[in-house]
Amino acid sequence: MANTVLVTGGAGYIGSHACVELLQAGYKVVVVDNLVNSKTESLKRVQKITGKALTFYEIDVRDKEGLADIFAKESISTVIHFAGLKAVGESCEQPLNYYHNNVYGTLVLIEVMCDANVRQLVFSSSATVYGESVHAQYSEDFPLGAINPYGRSKAMIEDILRDLSAADKLTQSNNPWKIALLRYFNPIGAHESGMIGEDPNGIPNNLMPYVSQVAIGKLAQLSVFGNDYPTRDGTGIRDYIHVVDLVKGHIKAIATLEGEKFQSGGCHAYNLGAGRGYSVLEIIETFEKVTDKKINYKFSPRRAGDLAECFANPELALKQLNWKVEKSLDDMIADAWRWQLKNPQGYS
Ligand SMILES: NC(=O)c1ccc[n+]([C@@H]2O[C@H](COP(=O)([O-])OP(=O)(O)OC[C@H]3O[C@@H](n4cnc5c(N)ncnc54)[C@H](O)[C@@H]3O)[C@@H](O)[C@H]2O)c1
Repeated sequence: MANTVLVTGGAGYIGSHACVELLQAGYKVVVVDNLVNSKTESLKRVQKITGKALTFYEIDVRDKEGLADIFAKESISTVIHFAGLKAVGESCEQPLNYYHNNVYGTLVLIEVMCDANVRQLVFSSSATVYGESVHAQYSEDFPLGAINPYGRSKAMIEDILRDLSAADKLTQSNNPWKIALLRYFNPIGAHESGMIGEDPNGIPNNLMPYVSQVAIGKLAQLSVFGNDYPTRDGTGIRDYIHVVDLVKGHIKAIATLEGEKFQSGGCHAYNLGAGRGYSVLEIIETFEKVTDKKINYKFSPRRAGDLAECFANPELALKQLNWKVEKSLDDMIADAWRWQLKNPQGYS
């Protein structure tokens, strides 16, 4: 019988793409989502793309009883934990909401997993857990030092999960935790079908959906924050990764958790990034080339807390997960644009 994966936050942007890959890889998929930032339409489309069914429960991961019922009903072998709030700016305005949702939500989930004796977990962490570094290319052993409540909620969860795994050695658990902390860089793009993609509520916080909405005429102008950074063209440089490459990293992570490296348990962090950076101006130029659309933009002052340059060292993921990105920036943009054109109002 196929292994069953519980996907928390599975109706969201990355979660819905993960459901497609999991179903196509032969897993049974159970989704838990409270729809605070998503719609069930994404899951309908996942099933249309794959021709396979999944099971959906509309609950909050903080609902301990509801979650325990699901673990009692479904024979879950692994959890991929995407559910969380993710807007940096909003997290500064509503820190308690972010800590309650992200940190407490994870605590409830792992308590329920302990009770159900399910101890295999892939966690959505983020490059925002890293502190500022003199090197622009970030490796997993770089010092952590998140600078906003969102990033700190991810760093706290990583600490909790590392502590949980360390406790196994002290208690000589015969069913130790197997945990992969996946630190995402900047996921963009969409499934090549154009049927699922990123559907931000209101004004997008991230560059790619913002650029797409300017291109389609929904937003008037893009602000490029800072053109005086010490980078090749003065604008900020980030590592962009196609969302489909990113979710394939999760499938590889599950296989690794089930393999030799994790035989006696463990909790390890992996960067999921392309290993190279693009500047904001390079993104705009490539977008214009791929889509044949002009992007109206202006330069604005730097934003507090933004780094000049940040990209992943993805070598550990290659070595231990046997994963690397396959898609190019042109693919990311072409796919994001196809999604935008086919769904100008997102899933609405
Ligand atoms: N998108 C990015 O740029 C990015 C980068 C790094 C890390 N991440 C992390 O990856 C994960 C998925 O991100 P995404 O871009 O798909 O975001 P998303 O908002 O599209 O998806 C998150 C999903 O979780 C659900 N959710 C939130 N709180 C919940 C709760 N308490 N109970 C049940 N469901 C809940 C939302 O309804 C949504 O469907 C998040 O944890 C995010 O922090 C995202």
